[in-house]
Amino acid sequence: MQQTESEMPAKDQALASSPPPAGPCAMVIFGGTGDLAGRKLFPALYNMVKSKLLSQDFAIVGVGRNDYTHEQYRQVMKEKLQSFATSAVDPALRDWLIKRVYYLAGDFSDPQLYLRLKQTLVEIAQKDHNLEGNYFFYLATSPAFFGTIVDQLGASGLAKEVNGQWRRVVFEKPFGNDLQSAKELNCQVSKVLAERQIFRIDHYLGKETVQNILVFRFSNGIFEPIWNRRYIDHIQITVAETVGVEKRGGYFDMAGTLRDMVPNHLFQLVSLTTMEPPISFNPGSVHDEQSKILHAIQPFRDEDVLHYAIRGQYDAGLVKGERVPAYRAEEGVPPDSKTETFVALKLMIDNWRWAGVPIYLRTGKSLAERRTEIAVQFKRAPLVLFRNTPVSSLDANQLIIHISPDEGISLRFGAKIPGAQMKVGAVKMSFNYLDYFGATANTGYEVLLYDGIMGDQTLYQRADMVEAGWAVVDPILDVWKALSPRNFPNYKAGSWGPEEATNVMARDGRSWREIKE
Ligand SMILES: NC(=O)c1ccc[n+]([C@@H]2O[C@H](COP(=O)([O-])OP(=O)(O)OC[C@H]3O[C@@H](n4cnc5c(N)ncnc54)[C@H](OP(=O)(O)O)[C@@H]3O)[C@@H](O)[C@H]2O)c1
Repeated sequence: MQQTESEMPAKDQALASSPPPAGPCAMVIFGGTGDLAGRKLFPALYNMVKSKLLSQDFAIVGVGRNDYTHEQYRQVMKEKLQSFATSAVDPALRDWLIKRVYYLAGDFSDPQLYLRLKQTLVEIAQKDHNLEGNYFFYLATSPAFFGTIVDQLGASGLAKEVNGQWRRVVFEKPFGNDLQSAKELNCQVSKVLAERQIFRIDHYLGKETVQNILVFRFSNGIFEPIWNRRYIDHIQITVAETVGVEKRGGYFDMAGTLRDMVPNHLFQLVSLTTMEPPISFNPGSVHDEQSKILHAIQPFRDEDVLHYAIRGQYDAGLVKGERVPAYRAEEGVPPDSKTETFVALKLMIDNWRWAGVPIYLRTGKSLAERRTEIAVQFKRAPLVLFRNTPVSSLDANQLIIHISPDEGISLRFGAKIPGAQMKVGAVKMSFNYLDYFGATANTGYEVLLYDGIMGDQTLYQRADMVEAGWAVVDPILDVWKALSPRNFPNYKAGSWGPEEATNVMARDGRSWREIKE
């Protein structure tokens, strides 16, 4: 899209507006020696230092079983930062961060660990940084430890907020592995923490474009009036990965794509795209609307699962010219695994705005392209006017919200092909974040960490949202568990998934958008 002078201030504002640094606190990373801490959290914290989003009175305490001294742990994190930072590391900024790093070894189930942690936090506050008694606990651990850690935080008094000090706990995903376990976990943590202290993370919500869905819908007068069943034919959401399970075969095989992607990432995209306007951007108001839409998804009956929930598993193939082994031949995966690496679903939302508008979702591993996008397809214009012309069909308008790897928005519409004859061709109007606002190298965790420290829960998930997501997925899990897949592997690595996924749309006279490089 051409940038006009009147649009320039948005760019200037983006460059000029910088939020204030977060207040004093200690961030305690349970699982501080793990993959997530090294690959995402430290690079995100470094980016926050660069953007001046952290307080001078900030400290990090990593917790793991490894027997490091503070100094050894600092060295490990320095190396991780060098490997995983999203831009060149400035030694002065890195040292500012590393100076604030501490380490504590112990087992999560050992009550002594929490007493030592309490002592360490007091010592840091007395000697080095005035943390003001604010603690930001980040559970970068297997979900199996969530309950234990929270119980121990409660028993040691570390979770208790007194004299204006705050205590917050971030839970990595997945939060539960079905509806029952999510409810039990919600119940267990709510015995120790108030909902305002609980931050259930979905790193998808840290992406700018995902946040922009709300701004795009509700700050532009032209889209909302047509954002409903009168004008929209269907919505299709694609979250496609070219990678397989990499080194996480063991973990992934226990979960599968449905659990790993749908109740969290895909349903976030569904809810932001289809929710009613919230009465404000307060977390409660946004969550209320997201929760309502998740509750309005029509439940799957057993026969619906057979028709509208497609699963697939990849066979060996070529992804971008590279040979990829079959899922069953990946490290940590049993050779007869029944775990799905691809899911396509057709959802219906039972409310006035969306009745009769199907929402198609597809997500999978080892697919042809890496792409996350939401395509909103509008109803076709009637052909009547073109009756006596060479035009035999009209393409429907499509609005595409590109989330990754490119971030932007494009609109497909019909235009006259120059020439003596009346012919219509599909053309595209597109806006790309990069062209307009420049590149922002980030991990997706920066804004979530900042919001967490600031106590803003908007981009985190509330208990009822998590449970509503699992409630939709649960019947599918049950049917799939009862009926073993008979045709796995059923798609080639490097393809767009199993044929049944194409059929689910073809039966409705629709097709998936062709996504090319
Ligand atoms: N890795 C990612 O990119 C990613 C992305 C999204 C979400 N997640 C989620 O993030 C969480 C962590 O994943 P991860 O990949 O970082 O796992 P990981 O590499 O296996 O790390 C686990 C961490 O927990 C510690 N730990 C394990 N058992 C312990 C015990 N009994 N007592 C004390 N410490 C213990 C380990 O410490 P030692 O090594 O010292 O034993 C290590 O620091 C998971 O919930 C995962 O689903 C990860």
